[in-house]
Amino acid sequence: MTSYEELFENNKKWIQKKTGTDADFFKELAGNQNPDYLYIGCSDSRVTAEEMMGLGPGEAFVHRNIANLVNNVDLNVMSVINYAIKNLGVKHIIVCGHYNCGGVKAALQPKDMGILNPWLRGIRDVYRLHQAELNAITDEHKRYDRLVELNVYEQCVNVIKTAVLQLAYMRSGYPIVHGWVFDIRSGRIVDLNIDFENILKNIKDIYNLTGEQ
Ligand code: CO
Repeated sequence: MTSYEELFENNKKWIQKKTGTDADFFKELAGNQNPDYLYIGCSDSRVTAEEMMGLGPGEAFVHRNIANLVNNVDLNVMSVINYAIKNLGVKHIIVCGHYNCGGVKAALQPKDMGILNPWLRGIRDVYRLHQAELNAITDEHKRYDRLVELNVYEQCVNVIKTAVLQLAYMRSGYPIVHGWVFDIRSGRIVDLNIDFENILKNIKDIYNLTGEQ
C-alpha cells in the first residue's frame, strides 16, 4: 500500500518525469483543455480512466460515480455532459462499465441499502427493462456480467435522450456515444458496439428534444 506521505513524493517524481521529457509540459497544461473524449465510468478504484486508455492529462474529460449511471435528475452528471458537449465540443462520449461491479452486485441484493437505495434503483430499472433476457440466463455469474453490459447500454441511451446531445449531433455529427465494458479479469476494454445512429432514430418518437419532426 502507498502511504499518505508517499503521495507527495510520488507527485514530485511525476513532475520531474513530465518536465524531464518536456520542459513546457505544465505551461501548456495550464493554457487550456481541448479533450476529444468524455469518459463516464465507475468510481471503482480498480478501473482507472485515463491509464487503461493510454491517455494523458488534457485528453479526457472524466465523470465517475457508483456503477456509471446517467440519471437525468443528477445535476452532476448532467452538468458534465452539457459542459463537455457545449463548451469542450467532445467528439466521443464513452460510458464504461466493468465486470465485478460492486454497485451492480449491490442492486441485485434484496436488502435496504439506505442512501444507496435511490441510486441503485437505476440498476434495478435496467434489470426490469431486460428481465426476460436476464432471467433466461441460468448461470448466476453470466447473468451478473450481462446486467453490467445492459446497464452500460441503458446509460448510453440516457445520454442520447438529452437535448444537448441531440442538438449537437444534428448540427455537427458529433458527439458519438460508445458503450464499453472493462474486463477487470484481463484488463481488456470490450466495445459493446452499440448502434448509436439506430438508438437515436428509434427513441425519437418519445425523446426528441430538438424541435425538429
Ligand atoms: Co463498479
